[in-house]
Amino acid sequence: MVLENKVAVVTGAARGIGRAIAEEMLKQGASVVINDVDEAELNKTMEELGDKDKIAVVKGDVSSIDDAKRIVGTAVEEFGTLDALVNNAGILRDRTFVKMSEEEWDDVIRVHLRGTFCCSKAAVEIMREKGSGAIVNITSTAGMKGNVGQSNYAAAKAGILGFTRTLSMELQKYGIRVNAVAPGAKTRMTLSIPEEVIRKKAREDPRYLKLLQLPGPEYVAGLVCFLVSDRAKEITGLIFGIVGNELSLWTFPHQVKVMYAPEKWDVQLLEKNMSRLLEPLK
Ligand SMILES: NC(=O)c1ccc[n+]([C@@H]2O[C@H](COP(=O)([O-])OP(=O)(O)OC[C@H]3O[C@@H](n4cnc5c(N)ncnc54)[C@H](O)[C@@H]3O)[C@@H](O)[C@H]2O)c1
Repeated sequence: MVLENKVAVVTGAARGIGRAIAEEMLKQGASVVINDVDEAELNKTMEELGDKDKIAVVKGDVSSIDDAKRIVGTAVEEFGTLDALVNNAGILRDRTFVKMSEEEWDDVIRVHLRGTFCCSKAAVEIMREKGSGAIVNITSTAGMKGNVGQSNYAAAKAGILGFTRTLSMELQKYGIRVNAVAPGAKTRMTLSIPEEVIRKKAREDPRYLKLLQLPGPEYVAGLVCFLVSDRAKEITGLIFGIVGNELSLWTFPHQVKVMYAPEKWDVQLLEKNMSRLLEPLK
């Protein structure tokens, strides 16, 4: 049991990946605060997960700083401390950019990006005082590669990557580790994408068919438990991918080719050299 005597908060844990993470954390010996906006589903999950002495439930919106303080504060009130935070809560408002409303943009950025900020802000206050802690932010391949119909979601998830990287640098001196995980799992979120949309996208890129055969969220849980445990105490500032039995490590963007102008890149010099810059790498 890698999380014995540890206390964790998992947001968006009434269902899907968050619930699977909370369940595995309990199996690994942790006490867990599970949060969601969906109170009915949250209570049902608490009943189903069983071990009531080791679970606390907090209904709340991760994008509200007051709710975030209440969610994280519950870990201290109920279990005496906080060792781990998993920023998992999320929504989709998929639409191509031309049709996307301001509200659809704001809602997705608010829940994912502001939600990750608010809960981290509240958690870091406690972890810094303690001199240790681990945060896992759930991101997505959409944030790394982009995805048609998800400009809001891709922007939010890419924001989470920059946030993860920066926090890992800033918080290392306080003993706090911060990593990101890009999962793939069959959940309400992925099931909300209509099959005909997936099949249409798959005509251009057959990899979309994978969405129809995604494995369950329980495949994601082990990695997140490992990353917040003391077994991963050297690991910070990294992005992992996990889909079924496939575990991967992603890079943050880095320069793949660099050229220098004698002095300044003016338009003529750019025109002359751009094709060399864009040549495929050997
Ligand atoms: N399922 C996948 O393949 C996949 C792929 C990439 C990334 N993700 C990410 O994984 C995370 C979990 O997704 P999932 O697939 O389990 O989705 P899901 O819809 O099954 O679960 C998300 C949960 O978050 C809750 N939630 C939404 N807004 C909230 C808020 N403001 N405050 C608190 N809780 C809130 C929902 O009520 C829901 O229970 C999300 O961040 C998602 O973007 C999932």
